[in-house]
Amino acid sequence: MRIVNVILMGFGMIGQRVARMIAENRPSVTGVHLCLRAIADSRSTVFAQGIQPHVISLLAGKRKHGEPIGEPGYLIAPNLQEVLGSTPAILVDATNSDRTGVIFERAIELGHRGVTANKKLVCGRMDIFHNITMAGATRFEATVGAGIPVIAKLQSMIAAGDEIRCIRACASGTLGYIFWQLGRSLTFAQAVETARKEGYTEPNPADDLSGMDVLRKLIILGRVCGFHWADDAQIRLPALLPIRYRDFSAERLMKALPRLNDRYKKKVTMARSSGSNVLRYVATTEPKRGRIQLLAVPAASPLGRLEGPENGFMIHSKYYPDRPLFLSGPGAGAAVTAEAVMGDIIAHARELTGGTR
Ligand SMILES: NC(=O)c1ccc[n+]([C@@H]2O[C@H](COP(=O)([O-])OP(=O)(O)OC[C@H]3O[C@@H](n4cnc5c(N)ncnc54)[C@H](OP(=O)(O)O)[C@@H]3O)[C@@H](O)[C@H]2O)c1
Repeated sequence: MRIVNVILMGFGMIGQRVARMIAENRPSVTGVHLCLRAIADSRSTVFAQGIQPHVISLLAGKRKHGEPIGEPGYLIAPNLQEVLGSTPAILVDATNSDRTGVIFERAIELGHRGVTANKKLVCGRMDIFHNITMAGATRFEATVGAGIPVIAKLQSMIAAGDEIRCIRACASGTLGYIFWQLGRSLTFAQAVETARKEGYTEPNPADDLSGMDVLRKLIILGRVCGFHWADDAQIRLPALLPIRYRDFSAERLMKALPRLNDRYKKKVTMARSSGSNVLRYVATTEPKRGRIQLLAVPAASPLGRLEGPENGFMIHSKYYPDRPLFLSGPGAGAAVTAEAVMGDIIAHARELTGGTR
């Protein structure tokens, strides 16, 4: 069985899980033999001929103590050709960087494959998106809905001649959790505080409340569907925070949030008074435009029934006209996201080795 080399960029929550899954991969189950050749975070790089599970624990321990995981410096980009080798390898982006595009372009040009959990890689410049994803060279299932296979499903629908008419999505686990808690009568400040304590928010919740994460997912969905507005999308985001709050530190923001409690209480009351409605942060993808809105949706509808950090994707298409396809499940989390990344790695590895299991 031919060995497929894997190079991992990013060794945070997702990267560490992915590294462990690769190191523990069982060829008898997956039909492919993976060899983790290098891991980099933003400060250092470690190379080996196959990094074993105990080494990953060791490296994770080093990061925990603020030590570099390997040789200082970011050594993958300048030595890309040498690191990836002459036989097709798989480059994985588990970073949160907006600078990995050029590295991926070069790797794909050299005949290698890519996998990313990093949305910034596939929602930036359209020419980079095109260059790295053409003919399936880079897979990006984990970027939308984490482990929910929404991208693979859309790609298979489109390949089978379906036409996507509308996708309505609650695509942020964090915002889903916050608006679900508002529906359970928590104040806005309490809902954000609980989401933060549960580990659902970024270190500064202002980043989640900006809506940028949902905008990136909307653009990715639009691009998967081939909608031209997603080439260079100019989308207005609902203002969940007053503009002046957006540059607050996390601590200052958390102190200021109770001032917004009345505003959100009114929104919840208005939604309830117009029927049995709940608030949801909804991204809509249509052929002619994309939209993001804070909407009151029926509590008994599929999006209204989502609980906690669940994501939901309602897909209307030529093949699903009256009864839309609805995909839902946890839309974030290390295990489910890493599993989606691993699924993409294995799919590439099987293609590269001619395996079809
Ligand atoms: N967490 C989830 O549930 C989830 C779900 C879907 C998608 N994602 C996406 O998955 C990615 C990783 O998420 P995470 O939660 O693991 O983030 P994280 O814990 O913050 O880890 C990010 C990692 O990327 C490294 N990094 C940053 N810039 C880099 C660069 N230029 N080259 C190499 N490494 C670099 C960081 O290194 P330093 O620490 O040295 O800076 C760190 O190791 C993000 O793009 C996120 O949006 C996450």
